[in-house]
Amino acid sequence: MTSAVSCRYDFLSRLLHWGVAAIIIYVTIMGYILHSLDGSRWFDFFSELNMSLATIATPVMVIRFVWRFFRPAVGWPSYISTRKKQLVTFIHEIFYLTIFIVLISGFLMLEKGYHLFWLIPVPQPLSSPEVNQFFFKVHRISCMALGVLLVIHIAAVANYLRQGKKEILNKMR
Ligand code: HEM
Repeated sequence: MTSAVSCRYDFLSRLLHWGVAAIIIYVTIMGYILHSLDGSRWFDFFSELNMSLATIATPVMVIRFVWRFFRPAVGWPSYISTRKKQLVTFIHEIFYLTIFIVLISGFLMLEKGYHLFWLIPVPQPLSSPEVNQFFFKVHRISCMALGVLLVIHIAAVANYLRQGKKEILNKMR
């Protein structure tokens, strides 16, 4: 690592990374499980919880995105080539873009309003069923893309760990 830059992300970046990771992993898995709960008494509870968590994740992601431009620079282990650095940076950009598409399309596809954590009413943003359907399709595709990116992301970190290279995970620990 270069000595001028830190080898670990700052505290806020780490907090935002793991906070958003926990929400996104939970909401994605529960989003798929919800299909099998349709019609049961649990559906409304978990659906409202999913929408509430996604609502919280949206401003948090905006803070996270903006903070990237101000936070202290983080170095790379010397065994990472320039090409690989460019590829990883590019994948992180795609990650951010996909997360925003998932969050925004999830909001715009709503066919009715909901209550944020059963307390604050949030109205339906768009009342055209055709437009809701369009964003439903966008949401489905972007959720699948996010799932694929997530698997690649975790597999890449696991692969470095398997080779005994702990520096990559330590950047975010
Ligand atoms: C068990 C799950 C996860 C592990 C082990 C993990 C690990 C890591 C590590 C080690 C880095 C630093 C890579 C580097 O800068 O070289 C990183 C960065 C990153 N991770 Fe994850 N991650 C996980 C889940 C997630 C999830 C769910 C998301 C998306 C919601 C995500 C999005 C990102 C992004 C965008 C970066 C770039 C750094 C930033 O801008 O904050 N990660 N992750």
